Amino acid sequence: MSGHKKRFSHELLERNIGLLIVFSILVVSFSGLVQIIPLFFQHSTTTPAEGVAPYEPLRLVGRDVYIREGCVGCHSQQIRMLQSEVQRYGPYSVAGESVYDHPFLWGSKRTGPDLARVGQRYSDEWHRIHLRNPRDVVKESNMPSYPWLQRNSVEGTNVRERMAVMRTMGVPYTDEQIQAAPEALVGKTEEDAIVAYLQGLGVAGRDAALQSMHRGEH
Ligand code: HEC
Repeated sequence: MSGHKKRFSHELLERNIGLLIVFSILVVSFSGLVQIIPLFFQHSTTTPAEGVAPYEPLRLVGRDVYIREGCVGCHSQQIRMLQSEVQRYGPYSVAGESVYDHPFLWGSKRTGPDLARVGQRYSDEWHRIHLRNPRDVVKESNMPSYPWLQRNSVEGTNVRERMAVMRTMGVPYTDEQIQAAPEALVGKTEEDAIVAYLQGLGVAGRDAALQSMHRGEH
């Protein structure tokens, strides 16, 4: 037809696989960003929940042991807003509890139970026995044993550097805290560190989470 201007047609995309791929990536990336970007600025995701403080040195080191040993491969650390989860694990996790977690350890696999609120649920002694050989306390457990943790010292690790790196990501450690950190590791083992880490999980933010749960927020 004369005078008919060729306009953009969907046919063009459908017939050109390269173009289709490029445009699909553009659409998915854009819609992804629309969801993700606001979270960087939203108050509830950037402000620590009441009571939540940066990890003390021993716990920070324990967290690194947790990461190294791959505990996150079997344990999640996020209680979802489902009644069954709340009844089993406690108040559901709120974003403000994770602001000092770099990287976060929410996980996506639950071979074992969620650990977001395991802190103070068992004694230190229970954790030690459990880590050395889970079968000694939970007969049917298929969790691996971690007997070497009790033998590895954490004294003299580069904890100052680790805290300084955390600070670059917004964790408000003071110079004094960083200077004093190695003292907290004197005579401690990886087992001490990971037990300290576990015992702190979900404790400080629990009340804030409970309150926001009652208000119906997340
Ligand atoms: C291969 C999967 C697997 C890995 C890896 C694993 N766990 Fe477990 N974990 C389990 C299972 C299954 C249970 C439940 C049975 C039990 O209590 O031993 C469990 C239970 C636990 C519990 C008790 C939770 C509760 O509420 O009763 C803690 C604490 C725990 N694991 C910590 C750890 C830590 C710390 C690591 C890493 C050093 C780790 N797990 C690695 C599978 C795993």
